[in-house]
Amino acid sequence: MTTPTRPPAGPPAPPFHEILARALSRRELLRGAGLGLAGLAAASLLPGCATSPDPAARATTPAAGGKLGFRPVPVSTADTVVVPPGYSARVLYAWGDPISDGPAFLQDATNSAADQALQAGMHHDGMHFFPLPRGSASADHGLLVLNHEYIATGLLHPGGGHRHDPDGYDREKLEKELAAHGVSVVEVSRGADGEWRVVRPSPLARRITAATPIALGGPAAGHPLMRTGEDPDGRTVLGTFNNCAHGVTPWGTYLTCEENFHGHFDVPEGHVPARPERYRRYRLEGAGYMRLGWSTLLPRFDVAREPNEPHRHGWVVEIDPFDPSSTPVKRTALGRFAHESATCVLGPDGTVAVYSGDDERFEYTYKFVAHRRYDPADPASGRDLLDEGTLYVARFHDDGSGEWLPLVHGTGPLTPENGFADQAEVLVFARAAADAIGATPMDRPEWIAANPRTRELYLSLTMNELRGAPGRPGADAANPRAANPFGHILRWREDGDHPGATRFRWDVLVLAGEPSDEGDAPVDAFANPDGLWMDDREVLWIQTDIPERNQRAGPFTAFGNNMMLACDPATGEIRRFLTGPVGCEVTGMSMTPDLRTLFVNIQHPGEVPADLAARGLRTDPDSPTAVSAWPDGPAAGRPRSATVAITRDDGGVIGA
Ligand code: FEO
Ligand code: CA
Ligand code: CA
Repeated sequence: MTTPTRPPAGPPAPPFHEILARALSRRELLRGAGLGLAGLAAASLLPGCATSPDPAARATTPAAGGKLGFRPVPVSTADTVVVPPGYSARVLYAWGDPISDGPAFLQDATNSAADQALQAGMHHDGMHFFPLPRGSASADHGLLVLNHEYIATGLLHPGGGHRHDPDGYDREKLEKELAAHGVSVVEVSRGADGEWRVVRPSPLARRITAATPIALGGPAAGHPLMRTGEDPDGRTVLGTFNNCAHGVTPWGTYLTCEENFHGHFDVPEGHVPARPERYRRYRLEGAGYMRLGWSTLLPRFDVAREPNEPHRHGWVVEIDPFDPSSTPVKRTALGRFAHESATCVLGPDGTVAVYSGDDERFEYTYKFVAHRRYDPADPASGRDLLDEGTLYVARFHDDGSGEWLPLVHGTGPLTPENGFADQAEVLVFARAAADAIGATPMDRPEWIAANPRTRELYLSLTMNELRGAPGRPGADAANPRAANPFGHILRWREDGDHPGATRFRWDVLVLAGEPSDEGDAPVDAFANPDGLWMDDREVLWIQTDIPERNQRAGPFTAFGNNMMLACDPATGEIRRFLTGPVGCEVTGMSMTPDLRTLFVNIQHPGEVPADLAARGLRTDPDSPTAVSAWPDGPAAGRPRSATVAITRDDGGVIGA
């Protein structure tokens, strides 16, 4: 999802030709240095990419040495999911579907809160397929674990939520909203007919919601900043919400990332918390932008009454999907910010790193390196491994080098004199610590993908229309456009390809948008990269999140609905693989180990911005199909976020 922001001030942008010259000279430098960065296509470092206005006219076989063999799909404004010829996409698990043999979805939104707690939440996001039995390479049976990022109260309730009808807002609505957030664990299998279905009943099915008890682990657990009236020990939090991207540990647990948690908290008018700058740094001021009204019924969402509750959100949460009775744990050693991705990389010596973006304009890119090593022969060695380690933040230098700056109490500016009493305070206020240490402000870091063989990393920078604006940071080599309405993708390799390295070399993989004829490899036009994941064939999958407010405006109309593309980083080729229905975001993906089924999440079909809503062009309780009727069709009622399972009709490998 996309949220408004108030970024910090910074120097003005240098002229664009200077930025371009820097990028070009760096390209030569990288080539001359023989970095071994595969296939540094000309498009990679230029302010545009070769695009194919008629992708269907392109070859359907792989380019020489390339990996992409499907016929690309054109941009679309149709209210449906489009995949290449020879592929099929079928809805597997939509909002409201029962996780097991529980209550069925009611299209008039009259399911109770208790029903919702046994059904798929709203707004699917990060996702992973865990084969069953555990540790196997099964490609027809497994656990699908997925995030439910946020909710649309106009769809969730008859008559809408607090912002639609404050007087009608009650405990039942509140509890249904809590239950529509969080994470699903569902058992899925592929039948003899080739179709994927949710297994019902399943003893492994589980919902984790915004009301589920979750333990705190790591340096901030039990700290005074984490203690509340309901939890005087500061060790158990109720709920996880705004779960966006995700990660998977080498020991087979799921990491869900708490992103825009601040939107749920209200700071009453006139209330000034102690150390107000620490709240403002996390955008905790005024009424929460989600306008859910939770603070009217739950004091913990009122910052005046429970000032420490916001400190208990904005973390990475570890879940064992194979044990439905296990307690999820918020791993505070990974820092508190708007986590987007918790991408794990395992080094040959057992070193574990977890990479995260902080998705906000001018925020940072982080890496956590565990102190203990993981032994693949002993999966139990992963237990609580994420509770001890070093959190780093990235500084990108204009010459293509980079360094990881440790956020360790007592080093550099991270001292009591500068407002950091101990390591817990550094982690709870990781953004402030990263400010102090001089990290590079980025263009909204979203997902991070890792090459499963080389450990090369890829980072989506989705957009930043405020870069270079008066009083804001200007362009630099890693964020080379001011403004940057279309986003770009960076990549880097750690020194020695070791996840524990403190230095790296980076370059720009692709600048999205602004079609041009430059470049060696065909690149289908796209904008606002967000979801990123690399499969075992080393194909990089890109999902887009063109903000809803832009989808019907200006240059963005050329891109149509949000989409998913496949990139062969070795050649620079990018082909459009899927287009989503109207008003959706395409986010979250996973494949079976044989790469023959691709699971993709379609989030918030039919969502349109407030200004259009005010003109009646919206999905609302009175006219829920005004913009999108996906996936159930106009007769059904409400658009629903859903997981789709994509297979090739000939049973082949996806994308090949
Ligand atoms: Fe929830 Fe940054 O996307
Ligand atoms: Ca996004
Ligand atoms: Ca995202």
